[in-house]
Amino acid sequence: MGANDLTPKFRTVQQHILDRQRQHHPTATGEFSWLLSGITLATKIIADHVRRAGLVDILGATGETNVQDEEVQKLDIIANETIAACLGYRDNVGIMVSEEDDEPRILKELDSLARYIVLFDPLDGSSNIDVNVSIGTIFSIMQRRENVAAGKVMDHILQPGYKQVAAGYVIYSSSTVMAYTTGEGVHMFTLDPSIGAFRLNRENVRMPKRGKTYSINEAYRSRFPAGVQDYLDWVKTEDAGGYGLRYIGSLVADFHRTLLKGGVFLYPPTNKSPKGKLRLLYEANPLAFIAEQAGGMATDGQQRILDKAPTALHERTPLLIGSEEEVKQVAEFWQP
Ligand code: AHG
Ligand code: MN
Ligand code: MN
Repeated sequence: MGANDLTPKFRTVQQHILDRQRQHHPTATGEFSWLLSGITLATKIIADHVRRAGLVDILGATGETNVQDEEVQKLDIIANETIAACLGYRDNVGIMVSEEDDEPRILKELDSLARYIVLFDPLDGSSNIDVNVSIGTIFSIMQRRENVAAGKVMDHILQPGYKQVAAGYVIYSSSTVMAYTTGEGVHMFTLDPSIGAFRLNRENVRMPKRGKTYSINEAYRSRFPAGVQDYLDWVKTEDAGGYGLRYIGSLVADFHRTLLKGGVFLYPPTNKSPKGKLRLLYEANPLAFIAEQAGGMATDGQQRILDKAPTALHERTPLLIGSEEEVKQVAEFWQP
């Protein structure tokens, strides 16, 4: 048996990042892969907690409500503090923004080495934790802007989504899967618990141009814009060609299915949430980056998500994301 028969036949996230940096950015210093290793470490720890939910006391709510005015689950806090702790050791991270934190965490604002900003939803789909349904973590990575006066932290953070240098998510389900992009395609890894590493299982993932499912919480139908209601009427007709409805209630899970199988996910504005429910900086932007890198589309019903200029940390946005042809189909019905 030759030596190369014994070499492991898989590539981890770190190896993948370094290989691609060598190919595309030979001058890269590897600092980005060091940053990403902080996120992969955090999500391995979160995956371990998720797997033991019910065995250890991490189910249920903390009794508090967060800046989103939502009931905080214990696992929200565990995930949030785990990511903050792991990224805190990465000296190239200057600022962290979390769905669970009222304000940004400024680690090293003035240190020019700390040029990365990490924005994340530590645990997406919190309402599904206690019922053992897929949940996830979503992250977005930006770089500090040049020529920003000291103390103007928000000027570094409130950048449009097309400025992202990387984005990704991890879905904690039957297996733990990570997808990420740095603008050169979408790549997918599965956590191998026997070795504690994310192993590459799909490179350059492409979203099908069309799909057969639409994904929306139809309970709010009467609150959606009339155009969306018209789409919901049409999509059930024979003429539409036989769509199915899938709605898990965890954005990461609904998006992961849409990325792999095609289709469309919608969270439109309602009279109760006129700007929609989902957050621009750490839910819509990262998933829109991934969707576009896989050949899909993401808008707020009017404009491309990645072109939106954020004005507030926890700003919400309507979201229409999925296969190009499906997004265009919905947009034809969805007038402002
Ligand atoms: P989070 O748990 O991070 O607050 O996100 C929950 C979001 C998203 O995951 C999902 O698509 C949406 O809430 C579901 O909202 P509804 O329960 O209103 O359908
Ligand atoms: Mn979320
Ligand atoms: Mn969340």
